[in-house]
Amino acid sequence: MRRSRAMGKAIRDDTHDEGTDKSMMHKKEDIVLVAGGGHCKSSIDVIESQNKYQIFGIVDLKENVGKKVLGYDIIACDDDLSELIKDHPRWNITIGHVPGCNKKTKLFLHLKDLGAEFPVIVSPHAYVSKHASLGEGTIVMHNVTINSEARIGSNCIINTGAIIEHDSQVGNNCHISTGCIINGACSIDYGVFIGSNSVLINNIHVAAETVIGADSFVRKSITQSGTYAGIPLKRIVKDIDKCLRP
Ligand SMILES: CC(C)(COP(=O)(O)OP(=O)(O)OC[C@H]1O[C@@H](n2cnc3c(N)ncnc32)[C@H](O)[C@@H]1OP(=O)(O)O)[C@@H](O)C(=O)NCCC(=O)NCCS
Repeated sequence: MRRSRAMGKAIRDDTHDEGTDKSMMHKKEDIVLVAGGGHCKSSIDVIESQNKYQIFGIVDLKENVGKKVLGYDIIACDDDLSELIKDHPRWNITIGHVPGCNKKTKLFLHLKDLGAEFPVIVSPHAYVSKHASLGEGTIVMHNVTINSEARIGSNCIINTGAIIEHDSQVGNNCHISTGCIINGACSIDYGVFIGSNSVLINNIHVAAETVIGADSFVRKSITQSGTYAGIPLKRIVKDIDKCLRP
């Protein structure tokens, strides 16, 4: 394997003041992040706050290897996954799941095939009911509330400030964006993206791979996958989501 310059060595520079205590660092298990963009930066903040995992490094495009994100090295590219996983079993995919992009799902499945473990990451500034459940690889960002008997699938992003109310279900590979409110007993199928500040009233079903634009209000179930937005909600783009399918 072509080893990057940074691969296998120190993981962070000393610009970080949290978690740099040496005795703490020895106790933490390492984790590798995939994709070094904006969502990665937010995820780093959550992982550092959680103080449970030590970020070993970031996998990104070949041309970015050697660069840093918030002081963490971009250590490798996609070609290196199977080698890297041998010594580093824990991963989080820090792609922001933009609408119309299924790379996050594909990488998750690929890494699972290679034997990766995907810890649940929960901000200490989030509230997750002890009666709720979270699937592997899901990250719960700062100021989220997940209430009783909510069930969140794997490889999801529950983004900053979102609320998932009691009895709601969120399928695998979903992104519930910043500030969304998913009221009680909703069921959101896999691969759904819900844009910032959107509200679902209670008991709403959202079909798989649907995209809901920012600031939307959903008061009727969406039974046909597609892209919807606005108040009142309208279907705005047809067939965009074919590319969401892995
Ligand atoms: C829904 C969305 C994905 C559509 O993007 P797009 O395919 O590029 O669509 P366009 O911007 O070309 O807009 C298409 C039409 O839908 C309308 N539209 C798009 N987003 C809308 C929204 N959120 N609310 C109301 N109308 C919207 C546009 O005004 C446009 O209408 P027109 O055809 O009458 O001019 C995008 O607008 C959006 O809301 N993304 C979510 C961003 C977000 O919340 N990110 C959070 C990250 S944490």
